Amino acid sequence: MHLLDNPIRSEELLVKTVDIKHRFYASSSEPLTHRELIELATENGDHDLIDLYNDHSLGYAENGGCLDLRQELANLYEPLIGAENIVVFTGAQTGMTITTLAMIHPGDHAIIVTPSYQSLEEGVRLAGGDVTRVELTPENNWQIDVAQIEAAIQDNTRYIVFNDPHNPSGSLLSEKTKKELVSLAEKNDILIFSDEVYRLLELNPAERSQSIAEMSKNGLVLGTMAKPFGAGGMCIGWVACQDKDIIDDLLKAQHLFSVSLSRAGEIQAMMALRVKDRIVEKNMKIIKENLALLDDFFNHNNDLFEWMEPQAGGTGFVKFKGPLSSDELAAQLLEEGILVFPSSVFDCGENLKQYFRIGFSRRTMPAALNAFSEYVEKNRSAWGHPRA
Ligand SMILES: Cc1ncc(COP(=O)(O)O)c(C=O)c1O
Repeated sequence: MHLLDNPIRSEELLVKTVDIKHRFYASSSEPLTHRELIELATENGDHDLIDLYNDHSLGYAENGGCLDLRQELANLYEPLIGAENIVVFTGAQTGMTITTLAMIHPGDHAIIVTPSYQSLEEGVRLAGGDVTRVELTPENNWQIDVAQIEAAIQDNTRYIVFNDPHNPSGSLLSEKTKKELVSLAEKNDILIFSDEVYRLLELNPAERSQSIAEMSKNGLVLGTMAKPFGAGGMCIGWVACQDKDIIDDLLKAQHLFSVSLSRAGEIQAMMALRVKDRIVEKNMKIIKENLALLDDFFNHNNDLFEWMEPQAGGTGFVKFKGPLSSDELAAQLLEEGILVFPSSVFDCGENLKQYFRIGFSRRTMPAALNAFSEYVEKNRSAWGHPRA
């Protein structure tokens, strides 16, 4: 596959809709401002970081992440993951693609759980690997069926890829399922790439289980400052893994794509990580308030929509029960200045053609929901669903 063969559908759509009024698809948390971050750091007594930010050199910063940031990131995991088990990339997107290019050789086979973030799959193809998709279903509460994964394993399977918490459905894997996946991977000498970019955004923190990086030497996990912290502009993502040989390979691979990270982004990330509980608490409050509005809306419109309350993250996958496919619905919504991600963004099979993704982690969501609600009221009679 050539780099330009399969452009990323969501990004193509975003390029075409930069001026859209209502970003009802949005997945990352309410954006932090630098001023807010400095205020939080000041309140937390992190004057060392504020000085570091003001005085830092604009020369090249260490590729793979400076030690101080990797130490802060290691605090997100149990002690099995130390600074030496983390490679920092210019965002999670870069991290996932470089990792996959480094781990997959031409002819290797990967099992990808779908619907998923498209780049998780394209990276494997770009590396010359073959892909088997295993599709999640609403009937199974968007949970991975481990027997299906097992059935897809071939002699050359190198990689099992999934995203947990899951974009788009907002489902969360149980610890039991993760343990079964780990034991399957270890038994068959397969790596697990677990995209955990929505970790820390669990509605019930008690449901957060160990990271796959903590559970197995075969696990590689992806994290980002973008989703839980609303800080995608820091351009800081990372991969954590117990296996030092893999970490060395990732560092080697990274040298082909960059020679430096942004030190400013690294220092901002450390500021955010030191006050992570406060930022996550603020973002979860927004998420919970928005989910209450969505619950009301979908209850009031349950003749037209099927809504499964998410367990984690910033996105949900809604079924439209009216006479349009989700692609047709999304095209009409665009005319109204409302952007949602229809099933084609996720290249879904026929059984998921009615599903579209919405996001609920921004303060702008209530206005987007109001506009969506007006559109629904305007059209429900024509769809054969008049209000009684
Ligand atoms: C599942 C998933 N993985 C990775 C990414 C990329 O993260 P980043 O924006 O930090 O590059 C996204 C962004 O939407 C995502 O939804």
